[in-house]
Amino acid sequence: MLAVVPPPITVRAPAKVNLHLGVGDLRDDGYHDLVTVFQALSLTDEVTVAVAEEPGVEVHGEGADAVPTGPSNLVWRAVQALAQHVGRDPDEPRVRVVINKGIPVAGGMAGGSADAAATLVGLASLWRLDIGRDELADVAATIGSDVPFCLHGGNALGTGRGERLVPVLSRHSFHWVLALARRGLSTPTVFEEMDRLRSEGRPPRIGSVEPVLEALASGDPRQLALLLGNDLQAAAVSLRPTLRRTLRAGVNAGALAGVVSGSGPTCAFLCESAASAVQVAAELSGVGVCRTVRVAQGPVPGAKVVQREEQS
Ligand code: C5P
Repeated sequence: MLAVVPPPITVRAPAKVNLHLGVGDLRDDGYHDLVTVFQALSLTDEVTVAVAEEPGVEVHGEGADAVPTGPSNLVWRAVQALAQHVGRDPDEPRVRVVINKGIPVAGGMAGGSADAAATLVGLASLWRLDIGRDELADVAATIGSDVPFCLHGGNALGTGRGERLVPVLSRHSFHWVLALARRGLSTPTVFEEMDRLRSEGRPPRIGSVEPVLEALASGDPRQLALLLGNDLQAAAVSLRPTLRRTLRAGVNAGALAGVVSGSGPTCAFLCESAASAVQVAAELSGVGVCRTVRVAQGPVPGAKVVQREEQS
């Protein structure tokens, strides 16, 4: 009798923005301790996993050329980590992964981590694993600091490397405009630049996280806008001075506030309403301070299988 090949599984996973990114000192393991508040945004990648004789990774969509398809792709690390975790041969996974990018590549929005999280969820379904979200999150943390959040979605307070999460409640949706840059920034390089700036005595660190959690709970974008903060922003701007102009242009276009997303170079602008975000996006796209703009809202759920009727 022929073995039945399970149908491919498509998973959608969100980008993230850090509403608050407090970076502590460099640890012995090369990471920094973080206190961060993540929000998952409606800017997503779709990842399809399928059983295949010829394993591999394919990448489509914007910026696909800049994404490695070899073993360094986080998706591949996710396949191997999960195979190992459940006792399958990590060197013979017989899986093909197709990524459709909607999240900017190397943009500080956890695009690679979203793909890894989507792969874990897809494989758990494809391989019919009896594995809970907590166990999947443990595997996710071995792949990258942001992968557990891309699984989790919503809003969360992250500590440790950013992988230890506590859910955070928020009222209403928040509306964002994202200014995407022409070229990406390397996350390790931005952290190194921050260490360098600190060794020279600059810059001040952002405040405490509690007011951000209160603003989220209140659902008031004006209150949240005053509190957006990112300890990596000065480093990203130091490496890419044009970001200063981008940040200013977003506020001039009518956003409540702007912040560099994670390690950048994407700039995230919080807006008063959905209508205001559309207006800000239209105005910002005409100023010539970024490659393109996107409108998004948050929070949205974490990595989730796309139901068949939703698939085109
Ligand atoms: O965890 P991930 O592999 O995504 O991190 C990429 C790089 O970002 C790390 O190698 C490190 O240089 C930097 N990083 C850090 N502290 C964190 C998270 C990331 O220094 N908490």
